[in-house]
Amino acid sequence: MTDSKLAIIILAAGQGTRMKSATPKLLHTLAGIPIVSHVLATARELDAAYTVAVVRHERDALVEVIVDELPNGLVVDQDETPGTGRAVEQAVASLPADFDGDVLVINGDTPMLDVQTLAGLINEHRHGGASATLLSAFLNDPSGYGRIVRTPDEPEQESAADTAARASTPLFGRRVTDRNGRVDRIVEHRDATDSELAIAEINAGVYLFGVSELRDLLPQLTMHNAQGEKYLTDMVELLRRAGSEVTVLPVAESWLVAGINDRAQLSEAAAKMNALIIRGWQLAGVTVQDPATTWIDLKATFEPDVTILPGTQIKGATTVARGAIVGPDTTLVDCEIGERAVVKRSDATLSVIGADATVGPFSYLRPNTILGAHGKIGAFVETKNAQIGDGSKVPHLSYVGDAHIGVDSNIGAGSIFANYNGVTKSETEIGSNVRLGSHNVFVAPVRIGDGAYSGAGTVVRKDVPAGSLAMNVAPQRNLEGWVATHRAGSAADVAAQAALAPQNAVEASAEQPAERTGE
Ligand code: UD1
Ligand code: CA
Repeated sequence: MTDSKLAIIILAAGQGTRMKSATPKLLHTLAGIPIVSHVLATARELDAAYTVAVVRHERDALVEVIVDELPNGLVVDQDETPGTGRAVEQAVASLPADFDGDVLVINGDTPMLDVQTLAGLINEHRHGGASATLLSAFLNDPSGYGRIVRTPDEPEQESAADTAARASTPLFGRRVTDRNGRVDRIVEHRDATDSELAIAEINAGVYLFGVSELRDLLPQLTMHNAQGEKYLTDMVELLRRAGSEVTVLPVAESWLVAGINDRAQLSEAAAKMNALIIRGWQLAGVTVQDPATTWIDLKATFEPDVTILPGTQIKGATTVARGAIVGPDTTLVDCEIGERAVVKRSDATLSVIGADATVGPFSYLRPNTILGAHGKIGAFVETKNAQIGDGSKVPHLSYVGDAHIGVDSNIGAGSIFANYNGVTKSETEIGSNVRLGSHNVFVAPVRIGDGAYSGAGTVVRKDVPAGSLAMNVAPQRNLEGWVATHRAGSAADVAAQAALAPQNAVEASAEQPAERTGE
């Protein structure tokens, strides 16, 4: 049900300079989707009355992704005044004037956030009565983050009611009052003194404000700081000076609020997310032999009793059916793998593997490869736009492009579907129960009828009727003694002479029987 008292603002206007990338930071991916899409998808689950994304840098590319994830979201373009405070100020201005609920602000670069954490924050805010509630975390290495500055005061004794309340929201470690005192303000890393830099509690970049407080105080933000930006984080000090309460909730596990600024942080977050995804599938009945070398995207799905062997990447919206075995060392991108199929040491994209089919080792399946049930694509075979029917096999060393193959046919080792004449691509059609010899070339467009055969080395340039044997191999000629005359003295010649010597001797003795008997 829509939460009519909730608006969500997602900050996505920053430049992401620390990524050092031509791709906008928030469009770098983890678990197969952009950083910002994780945040948008999580926000969507809260079903807020309004969801606003603020964009500026590479706005068109961002908007495309935002609209994908949040078709009903609002997009606000940040002006030339920099800073998270300015972004929120403009987003708040886009909300209807009569909206009087809570505003959840989320940095667009915190992809690990989950909906339980956000729901917990909203719940705490609505029951706690503070003007703002925000998430923090305690980090061993807090560098780069804003620090939570608290005024040390008398440690309050936690009441039994508080303990019970805390136990009911286990995501949050400690309430504000039981750790290092009241919150005064947030200081950004670049503005912090040495003693402030030593603070391990960081601002997570996830905040809940009453909209009226934002409307009142955001215009008071200044740009008097190291970066010359309007910091949203200065709202804490403004609220405190106005005599309002601010509650800071440390999350129990700091990875939940990790912000991605550079590629080192991206890979750390990606590894954590991958570990969570794998664990989820393991608990759902999937064997993952080596989680450390297995990568599974968020959108991939598996039935129980799938086995994934080491070194395997399952990307995109790949689906793997019951009993299939994938890996080792296999990459699947947007593939559909049938029940009990086996895909070993192979690379496949946008392909469908039928039930009980086998692929690999060392097969390369390019888009629109469709292998039927009990079919086979074997070692060192490349396929592209190839429909290979039930029970049909391409066992060894072949290229199959732009092909339709019926059922129960066999393509000989080392065959090439020559689909490209340098200008256009054409298709090859092969019927059912066909037996083709080794090292054939099918010069497309060409058709081979049901039940046909071909000899080894056939170059099929014209259609083969059903039931025929096609062959066009030229008769073999052996030019005897060619090496002795053209490569005299070479290693080949020496070897050939040695091989021929006994034979020559026999021939010589056959020619001179008298001499021999005379001995
Ligand atoms: C910010 C916080 C910091 C906190 C950290 C948590 C501020 C001033 N600092 O720092 O206290 O510890 O997040 O991860 O808020 N953005 C805009 N418009 C802008 C600038 C940024 O929309 O003008 C967006 C960015 O796209 C990003 C988010 O806001 O998604 C945070 O910006 P970023 O530059 O990463 O802030 P941090 O330096 O990490
Ligand atoms: Ca950040």
